[in-house]
Amino acid sequence: MSRTGAVRRWAVIPAAGRGERMGTGEPKQYRTLCGRSLLEHALQPFLVHSGIQGVVVALAAGDRAWPALACARDERIRTVEGGAERMYSVANGLQVLERDAAAEDWVLVHDAARPCLRSADLDRLIAELDHDDVGGLLALPIGDTIKRSDDSTARVAETLERGGLWAAQTPQMFRFGLLRRALAHCAQSNRAVTDEASAIEALGLQPRLVAGSARNLKVTREEDLALAEAILRASAA
Ligand code: CTP
Ligand code: MG
Repeated sequence: MSRTGAVRRWAVIPAAGRGERMGTGEPKQYRTLCGRSLLEHALQPFLVHSGIQGVVVALAAGDRAWPALACARDERIRTVEGGAERMYSVANGLQVLERDAAAEDWVLVHDAARPCLRSADLDRLIAELDHDDVGGLLALPIGDTIKRSDDSTARVAETLERGGLWAAQTPQMFRFGLLRRALAHCAQSNRAVTDEASAIEALGLQPRLVAGSARNLKVTREEDLALAEAILRASAA
């Protein structure tokens, strides 16, 4: 069914991971920085944004930490059970929006593990992509020289040409209908993707890269927490 009127925007926050690379029991989305969980920090720019219609958070089966958060009572947020891989958690999030979102509505997918996204970067992503045919993502041109090692050894097999390489971040912003189709295509062909852009690329399309900020780091390892905390403190000051 098509719907007339302005294109709307929705956010999907995959928060169903186990945080295995952190090496602690508690999933990283519930670790606390500056008095709030990573998940609450990740949600914040979307909750204060007037152009976001609603938010879906994908939670791990058996998650008992979510109901204790203040935002669990925010009626703009719906929750859904996540899947075994990030892509299935995002697909489940899209499923929740099926009745409300039109095919041409935008969906912004943002990792629960990225607590330092600035509203200004979110605004820029939206402004640069709002009329784009494909959609795109925040990303950062690679600064380091990149080496590839053979799986078996920690010795350099090759130095990659750094020019043109970007590190993909989130949010990643695509049309609801296209993203559903892209993720379904990956699931059907058993293609594991770690971000939405890869699923769109598998359809032969080219997502746009929008230069982001190093502040928007993903908390992956224990040491990233201190860095994220320093960034949050600096931006609050
Ligand atoms: N995620 C998810 N569902 C999964 C796996 C990951 O919703 N089955 C989410 C995580 O909660 C996180 C985001 O996807 O917000 C990015 O994933 P990643 O950084 O890999 O987090 P984890 O999978 O939790 O960490 P690890 O890979 O170290 O276990
Ligand atoms: Mg993971």
